[in-house]
Amino acid sequence: TGAALSPLIGARALAEADTAATSSPFSFFTQPMPMPQVIAPSSTTGGIDTYNVSIKKAIKEIVPGVLTEVFSFNNAFPGLIRATTGRPVVINQYNKLDMPVAIHLHGGHVAPEHDGDPMDTIAPAGVRQYHYPNDQPHAPLWFHDHAHHMESEHVYRGLSAFYLLTDPTEQALPLPSGVYDVPIMLREADIDPSGKLVYTMDDFMGRDTILANGKAWPYFQVAARKYRFRLLNSTNLRFFTLKTSDGSPVIQIGSDGGLLEKPFTTDTVALSPGERADVVIDFSRYRVGTGIVLENTEGPGPAERTGKVLRFDVVKTTDDPSSVPATLRTLPPLPAVTGRRTVVMSMDEDSRPNPQGYMDGKVYDHRRIDNTVPWGGSEIWTVTNANLGIPHNFHIHLVQFRILTRNGNPPGPAEAGLKDTIRVMPGETVTFQANFDSFRGKYLYHCHMLDHAAMGMMAQMEIV
Ligand code: C2O
Ligand code: CU
Repeated sequence: TGAALSPLIGARALAEADTAATSSPFSFFTQPMPMPQVIAPSSTTGGIDTYNVSIKKAIKEIVPGVLTEVFSFNNAFPGLIRATTGRPVVINQYNKLDMPVAIHLHGGHVAPEHDGDPMDTIAPAGVRQYHYPNDQPHAPLWFHDHAHHMESEHVYRGLSAFYLLTDPTEQALPLPSGVYDVPIMLREADIDPSGKLVYTMDDFMGRDTILANGKAWPYFQVAARKYRFRLLNSTNLRFFTLKTSDGSPVIQIGSDGGLLEKPFTTDTVALSPGERADVVIDFSRYRVGTGIVLENTEGPGPAERTGKVLRFDVVKTTDDPSSVPATLRTLPPLPAVTGRRTVVMSMDEDSRPNPQGYMDGKVYDHRRIDNTVPWGGSEIWTVTNANLGIPHNFHIHLVQFRILTRNGNPPGPAEAGLKDTIRVMPGETVTFQANFDSFRGKYLYHCHMLDHAAMGMMAQMEIV
């Protein structure tokens, strides 16, 4: 898939070379990667966890020696909420920015009035209570801003956080846990030499600083044993294909909607914006003192910057009681199909520097229902990227779906589980099946390259 990008990148790289040139010089792997900052509930009464979260500016040292103003949830960059299936969460989101926001739980099974609709915003100085029933299986969810036309810049400035939902199925497994279970939020940024986070719409060349848990190109010290890494691509535009610098394989155990049925061994882990991959890496094969770089082989360069993500430093030995079982979970069979529909994504490149994004030829309009979906059904959706030079991806709210085909072939093992976001590379067609048997109401689907969503590549379904 990386190869499919290169003709496009070449052309645009020339046009935007001046943007890329503003990146500051950098020495890699000089700062430790922190764990995401855990956001704790302010009360836990009646079986409900209630959180008070302030959406506000914060100052962070992303690049060593330089301070950068970001947007944050409770000062976290990034933050993390832990939730459990069957135990509802209420979040009071206080908007302390001077612009509207709307908070969406990505991958969450949430009523429409709590889904963070782009038009259903929290005004500056306002507060909004979001209710999350957590009546779905374990999954590495996340939440982020979705305010119309501003989601792209707000998420870029930092409004994204983990929401790790667990359940007894997941907890019963002997997978690496505790300090050996490490969420990593991967993102891109354009940070100028003074530390300013530069946002330019659709600037996929300029955002060439790679962050892991809010730090540019950090190192992470590990013991020589197995670790579980919950990877989230929270970038607006960048696609990652990750590999280890020594080429040794990793075990992928999960994706957007939680664990796969079976783990599989792979050399590469691909993540388009919004996607998650749950992987186990066994560092026991390395001697203490070894450094293994997590590399990225996809997307616009310069490769000497964007080709590196972080470095794992093996610093000690330890025992390891964890293991990866051959069966992780069983997914329910798909029900009979009740309907079919198609979605075509496209972007008008000629209208640069203000390109328009389309779903089925139409720019997002919150007053329009683009698809009316009968409640109770199970539908096959066929999603096509009509652009031959631009990658897109597709995310639908409310449901976790199963991919049936990618370009006519069955999905690979990484896409065989529950998904809510999928890459749709130039010219590609993906079909999936989803059950619409829970909430009724209006929900979005869109390209999760958020700059594209902000250009209008977003539509609305109503489940009735
Ligand atoms: Cu991750 Cu409509 O969102
Ligand atoms: Cu797109």
